[in-house]
Amino acid sequence: MNKDIKEILYDEKQVEARVKEMGARLAELYRPAVERGECIVLLCVLRGAAIFMADLARTIDLPLEMDYMAVSSYGNAATSSGVISIKKDLSSDIAGKHVIIAEDILDSGLTLQFLLENLQERNPASLTVVTLLRKEVAGQADIDCFDIGFTCPDEFIVGYGLDYAENYRNLPYIGILKPEVYS
Ligand code: IMP
Ligand code: MG
Repeated sequence: MNKDIKEILYDEKQVEARVKEMGARLAELYRPAVERGECIVLLCVLRGAAIFMADLARTIDLPLEMDYMAVSSYGNAATSSGVISIKKDLSSDIAGKHVIIAEDILDSGLTLQFLLENLQERNPASLTVVTLLRKEVAGQADIDCFDIGFTCPDEFIVGYGLDYAENYRNLPYIGILKPEVYS
């Protein structure tokens, strides 16, 4: 797998440290709500955010629920069409709960825009986005993120949950895939 990586952007130690900081910030934000007896749901956007969410959850020192949602966008594989459908919905009702969406990467922003609109209709107490990565691309939808782990260049990123054709998710670091692998 390593031979297909052009460059390691963030190694295992850097990712671990950053995720820990993100968890601490979330705990600080939601501690008052938990003390009022309110409920927190950490929502994983499958499948890319699974590893991020699993690690993040263990750095948030608060009681919380974990739930999972899978969405897919159709159209041209290189650019998101903006037509998004729910492949797997949440298992529980989020009405009145504080929902933290954990996403792997913010690219065009269309996935998160869809999710925010869809989840808002279910009347959560609040809705917050944390994303592991934000790609530096022009024309990105304006998504209000509480926290962004790292920024990355407009290249194909894999590892730590992110895939190319279902591969590379288990790399312990975040890296750039060599263009010759997918072109
Ligand atoms: P958006 O809707 O364009 O923001 O795309 C978001 C989704 O596309 C992410 O949740 C990822 O699953 C996928 N994605 C976008 N860029 C990359 C990448 O560089 N590597 C792997 N997956 C990506
Ligand atoms: Mg994703």
